[in-house]
Amino acid sequence: MAQASTAGHGSPVLATLPREVQLYEVGPRDGLQNELRTLSTEDKVRLIEALVDAGVRRIEVSSFVSPRWVPQLADAEKVLELLPRRAGVVYSALVPNLKGLERARAAGLQEAAVFLSVTEAHSRKNINKTVDEAVATAHEVSDAARAAGMRVRCYLSTVWGCPYEGKVSTAQVVALCTRLERLGLYQLSLGDTIGVGTPGQTAELLEAIFPIFPREKIALHFHDTRGTALANALVGLSMGVTTFDASVGGLGGCPYAPGAAGNLASEDLVYMLDGLGISTGVSLQKLVHAGELAQTLVGRKLSGKYLQAALGELERIRAR
Ligand code: HMG
Ligand code: MG
Repeated sequence: MAQASTAGHGSPVLATLPREVQLYEVGPRDGLQNELRTLSTEDKVRLIEALVDAGVRRIEVSSFVSPRWVPQLADAEKVLELLPRRAGVVYSALVPNLKGLERARAAGLQEAAVFLSVTEAHSRKNINKTVDEAVATAHEVSDAARAAGMRVRCYLSTVWGCPYEGKVSTAQVVALCTRLERLGLYQLSLGDTIGVGTPGQTAELLEAIFPIFPREKIALHFHDTRGTALANALVGLSMGVTTFDASVGGLGGCPYAPGAAGNLASEDLVYMLDGLGISTGVSLQKLVHAGELAQTLVGRKLSGKYLQAALGELERIRAR
């Protein structure tokens, strides 16, 4: 399997990049929520175990959202029950409201991810709430989750653009970030929900957000609809961000954001980071095994570029 070239790593530009990055794997949640085929609980657990085996240490395993809204993830409790707990591995899940938190606590979830949108139209379609209502709910859930000993992360969706409202201004994002400061988050994940972001916009957004949420608290969540996810990630990396959400094989999308393609593929991200000599603790070869499994389980060819190149290479070797 092709190894990333680390040539040029002595360059002064590259020497300023972080030495370590954390991959936050969202495939079992962001990926599977959007698939036509609903996987069995056992298959979901197999996929998550393959990711753990590859060295992934933070995995979003499901959602405690309404099963009527996202039937593909209706078995969140069962997934958590069947998953073996491993030292150093943190499982998280989406939690939309207090009802979801009650379910998550009973299932022994370690980390809750609250979520809201910058734009009114996506907020209404996704969670049936105005942005003001969503901010109030996020506070309520975060307070209760932290009181129960969970860490809390928050997703902000439609930061780079909205499927219903189009352009989103940096000022609009900054105003909302200011309202999230008191949530007690350990991390804020900024979402390019429909994959419209470009690198210049990413730099401008991060410069505006860092005074509110410092780079150490930021994660970047790119969807690769227009092929700019990796370029945006590189801009974030060059500005000191060290957590990137990504999805095995490039699975992903939001059922309430039409036109959203998959997330930045985990293999593509790790290949780039390996090439930059940046440590993730993840084995690319084993990640490809997880990607191959994901592809078999969902029953369609996945979009991840490195995954497809590696599987093609394996096929040629096997055919010899
Ligand atoms: P609602 O219908 O307005 O809820 O949905 P409600 O409070 O009126 O309750 C209606 C019924 O749902 C009640 O049951 C509740 O008990 C039940 P009934 O009395 O009719 O029998 N209910 C629940 N059941 C189980 N678990 C719960 C729950 N809550 C209520 N947690 C709600 C509001 C927020 C629940 C719904 O809109 C929802 O679940 N939305 C989630 C949609 C979703 O998961 N979207 C995708 C994830 S976001 C995303 O992908 C973006 C991201 O990746 C970042 C990015 O890319 O930008 C994160
Ligand atoms: Mg997403």
